[in-house]
Amino acid sequence: MKFKEGKIIEKLELEDGREVVARFVKPSDARGLMLLTNSLVDENAFLTRMEHHSLAQEKRIVKEYLKDSKKGKAVSFVLESNKKIIGSIGGTCQDGAMSHVIDIGIVIHKGFRGVGLGKKSLKFLIDLIKKNTRAEILRLHVYGSNKHAISLYKRFGFREVGIVKKCYKLKGKYHSRLIMVKYL
Ligand SMILES: CC(C)(COP(=O)(O)OP(=O)(O)OC[C@H]1O[C@@H](n2cnc3c(N)ncnc32)[C@H](O)[C@@H]1OP(=O)(O)O)[C@@H](O)C(=O)NCCC(=O)NCCS
Repeated sequence: MKFKEGKIIEKLELEDGREVVARFVKPSDARGLMLLTNSLVDENAFLTRMEHHSLAQEKRIVKEYLKDSKKGKAVSFVLESNKKIIGSIGGTCQDGAMSHVIDIGIVIHKGFRGVGLGKKSLKFLIDLIKKNTRAEILRLHVYGSNKHAISLYKRFGFREVGIVKKCYKLKGKYHSRLIMVKYL
């Protein structure tokens, strides 16, 4: 599917009856995305960021994603349930000699994990990257202790290609940083 601001990618129904819509990001998502990011910061959920985002910061991020999406350089979509953004998934291609490498990220709200949305989202993301960008390599960074995420990425063919020991320091505790890639 080709990128269009706010366009619905798919409607999903969870086993417990909750409805979730996957759709491309649009400018008015900034507030919902800020709330999602800040909820992950509050739970120390394997992010690099440790401070809350402001609305102005989030607006700039969304603007950048939309600009890059229109140029075929990025993909960004959200998961929405009951008018709340509960997931944010996307990637942006690097510049110059690395313009065929896309760095990706995926976060899902605590209340919606473990019910298959990560798998669905990663599948959508890979399809959308193939259709909307010229990326040939997907790359990501993940905490070595983030077992669920690592298992999800391996399932989709990502391979661990590097490790930076003690790269993250969270509340005085060190964690390694894995670099994982998938060649399209
Ligand atoms: C990592 C994350 C995106 C996974 O999304 P999710 O919707 O919870 O994942 P799914 O329900 O689709 O499960 C996908 C796979 O992850 C692994 N997984 C998920 N929950 C798990 C659990 N409770 N126990 C063990 N493995 C688990 C499994 O491999 C699972 O596949 P399976 O159910 O077929 O065994 C999500 O947990 C999240 O946003 N976490 C916080 C932020 C984060 O860590 N982001 C990644 C940064 S690199």
